[in-house]
Amino acid sequence: MRIFLIGYMGCGKSTLGRRLAADMGIQFIDMDSYIEERNYKTVPQIFAEEGEAEFRKKERKALEELTEFTDVVIATGGGAPCFFDNMELMNQSGVTVFLNIDPTILAGRLLKSKTERPLIKGKSREELIAFIHESLQKRSPFYEKAALQITKPDVETDTVIEQLKQIM
Ligand code: S3P
Repeated sequence: MRIFLIGYMGCGKSTLGRRLAADMGIQFIDMDSYIEERNYKTVPQIFAEEGEAEFRKKERKALEELTEFTDVVIATGGGAPCFFDNMELMNQSGVTVFLNIDPTILAGRLLKSKTERPLIKGKSREELIAFIHESLQKRSPFYEKAALQITKPDVETDTVIEQLKQIM
């Protein structure tokens, strides 16, 4: 079993991922941490020193490696589904779950978050909300290719597990 959690920054992929993995008794992997370990650099360092295009190549390579793992829940980076044919790769090798969260909630969470995210660094609340709307327009068509969609990951862990069992 291989589950990919996808969705915008701040949608709760890691939180749900940890819970799902614990409930199902399988491994949890955070893709950004996986990239950082493999490259001996943090994500912000990769963006700053090598640029976004290089980060996307590293992200693709990590994804290819992760499709070899079994019995795992993978929290992907927010942009991962939207580059190369990453979404097709994930759909071929596992079950994709899109955490579809309202942009205003995302903005509130991202403003409070301590995780450094190069794409939104230094943005005010208003700038962030505008940026989220704009990037979601481009990203949603990719996210919507997911096999499953949930809008309340905080209360839907059991529902997700039930849905996963039905399609496995
Ligand atoms: C990104 C999301 C981040 C990380 C990088 C780029 C994006 O992951 O991969 O900063 O393009 O949306 P999270 O979704 O875990 O914040």
